[in-house]
Amino acid sequence: MKKLIIAIDGPAGAGKSTVGRQLARELGYTYIDTGAMYRALAWKALQSGIPLDDEARLTRLAETSRITLTGRPDALRVFIDGEDVTEAIRTLRVGEAASRISAIPGVRRAMVAEQRRIGRRGGVVMEGRDIGTRVFPDADVKFYLDADLEVRARRRWEEERARGRRVSLEEARREIQARDARDRERRDSPLRRAEDAIHIDSSTRTVQEVVNQMLAFIHQKN
Ligand code: DC
Repeated sequence: MKKLIIAIDGPAGAGKSTVGRQLARELGYTYIDTGAMYRALAWKALQSGIPLDDEARLTRLAETSRITLTGRPDALRVFIDGEDVTEAIRTLRVGEAASRISAIPGVRRAMVAEQRRIGRRGGVVMEGRDIGTRVFPDADVKFYLDADLEVRARRRWEEERARGRRVSLEEARREIQARDARDRERRDSPLRRAEDAIHIDSSTRTVQEVVNQMLAFIHQKN
């Protein structure tokens, strides 16, 4: 069977990571979480004290940092310049910083080039905001995964609580809304559904239901 490139895009909290991991596992494909790459870079910028609006320094940082994703889909580890940041990047602060630096064209250029290099041979499930529109406009199958704001906010809130952090549902909702607005309104590769992407709403579906629906579309292609 041909090794496909499968793109999943959508807003924060739509379930892209959970679904993407499971899908990759069932297909025996590599899972690439591109948001983790932007988060790793944002983490490094915060660590290094680089202001999040310093486009020149952030572009240089993106061009010179080595970000690697290793391990199986359900045990993916994220490294930047050899440092394991898997857990450190999963905070609201890093998510917000990632959203800010991802609006910088030089940062995106470096990340997109690396994502194309990783995915070009196929056999990948790649998720993010611009996979079907920019990174792989010719992807074999494109999905746009969405869910109601309330559902997404609650998922984010539950994730934070599971990590032992105390945030209110209201804070989680505000964070998701702010990130959505920024990711949709930036000039370079804003979040939007590619015209040929299959729209799936995960609000009232289980992970397995969404994965099965995706597999049905994929099998039509292969
Ligand atoms: O999916 P995530 O929450 O881990 O992504 C963090 C931020 O990174 C997101 O708010 C916007 C940015 N991002 C992007 O601009 N393009 C991608 N392909 C993936 C993420």
